[in-house]
Amino acid sequence: MPTAPLPRTYRVKSFGCQMNVYDGERMAELLGAQGIQPAPEGEESDLVVLNTCHIREKAAEKVYSDIGRLRRKDGTAPMIAVAGCVAQAEGEEIMARAPSVGIVVGPQAYHRLPGMIAEAAQGRRAVDTDMPAETKFDVLPARRKVGASAFLTVQEGCDKFCTYCVVPYTRGAEVSRSFSDLMAEAERLVEAGAKEITLLGQNVNAWRDDGNRGLEKLIEALADLPGLARIRYTTSHPNDMTDGLIEAHRDIEKLMPFLHLPVQAGNDRVLRAMNRSHTVASYLKVLDQVRTVRPDIALSGDFIVGFPGETDTEFEDTLKLVEMVGYSQCFSFKYSPRPGTPAATMDGQVPTQVMDERLQRLQAALNVSQQAFNHASVGRRCQVLVERKGKLDGQWLGKSPWLQSVHFIGDAAIGDLVDVDLIEAGGISLSGRLV
Ligand code: 5AD
Ligand code: SF4
Repeated sequence: MPTAPLPRTYRVKSFGCQMNVYDGERMAELLGAQGIQPAPEGEESDLVVLNTCHIREKAAEKVYSDIGRLRRKDGTAPMIAVAGCVAQAEGEEIMARAPSVGIVVGPQAYHRLPGMIAEAAQGRRAVDTDMPAETKFDVLPARRKVGASAFLTVQEGCDKFCTYCVVPYTRGAEVSRSFSDLMAEAERLVEAGAKEITLLGQNVNAWRDDGNRGLEKLIEALADLPGLARIRYTTSHPNDMTDGLIEAHRDIEKLMPFLHLPVQAGNDRVLRAMNRSHTVASYLKVLDQVRTVRPDIALSGDFIVGFPGETDTEFEDTLKLVEMVGYSQCFSFKYSPRPGTPAATMDGQVPTQVMDERLQRLQAALNVSQQAFNHASVGRRCQVLVERKGKLDGQWLGKSPWLQSVHFIGDAAIGDLVDVDLIEAGGISLSGRLV
């Protein structure tokens, strides 16, 4: 790799989950603190960070086509850094397959980017996929500019080892950030303008402070921050829904009535093969408990169709579950075999065509469910947190307490909490009238 001047401008492109969005923001802040500026919209940058996702094959392969497209008008390539979970899982392979990549940095090592950029500028390619004992959070610069709704990573990694999933390998074991660190970062987010904080973790409800204080204690303390209006958390595992956390949905007003609780499949044999360590019945019991304390709660989930060995009848059980729960929104995916995971070598891999058909049927059912939920909201009055301007004159977009997108016309500003009557349900959003 030839030497190059230190980059003056950067662009960070994040793919995949919300934690990548959070990491992308923190990397941008770190680069900013080094005097590297964000490239103006539409202009080329000296440094491009691809913050990648490894969860499914399609997402992982995308990085190589993206790298191929990163040529500038004058034919030169920018300095390219591959970050995120593909970097963690395939660091060496990226270096071998993509000579234009100068930096490969994993999700636990990106606080070391400045040194790696200096190396790359000297013509030395730099790889760091360590999971160091020192945490990036101690090194990253303080948060300065955030939107009305901000993310806060409280926990990373996963010890659950679902048989289809790469996360325990790419993000490592479950690690919780300390209570005091999190309160300090939350205060800075609020000072920077955040009205809503979404607590993030691969298993956010497994968060523990010194092994004892559970997530509800953190939520309780955050609710005491005067400038903060709303608290959310994602993603949770059914087995970590403690009584304390469930009761928080009754007791803490700032905790929004929304729960994303992935189930993946509606059949116990499939759940066992996935190593989910919960059953359909135990999952439904948790939902029941949450609904008892918070009857208006909006429920969301993740589903995988075509897990190895899944039969037609077992898939039908997933459809039955969807009908039973009445989700407000969901994510659904075709099973994607991931190298190194137990499911990738299981017998009974389901043909793509069958997966396509199952996914279509599932998504149709989930659409019906979402439409029903949104239609049932029409006539409700609620608060909307204004997040951005809409396309029309005087139009604003924001979120209802139930995480529905709501648009309305009127006098408002980003960060306002306004009272809105929900008057019409569209495909994926609702229209409201300012009260
Ligand atoms: N194939 C398809 N979907 C997957 N997910 C995780 N691993 C896989 C895989 N190998 C889905 C799960 C998880 C979400 C983040 O991604 O539904 O909850
Ligand atoms: Fe992956 Fe399962 Fe852990 Fe979720 S709980 S991150 S699906 S291994």
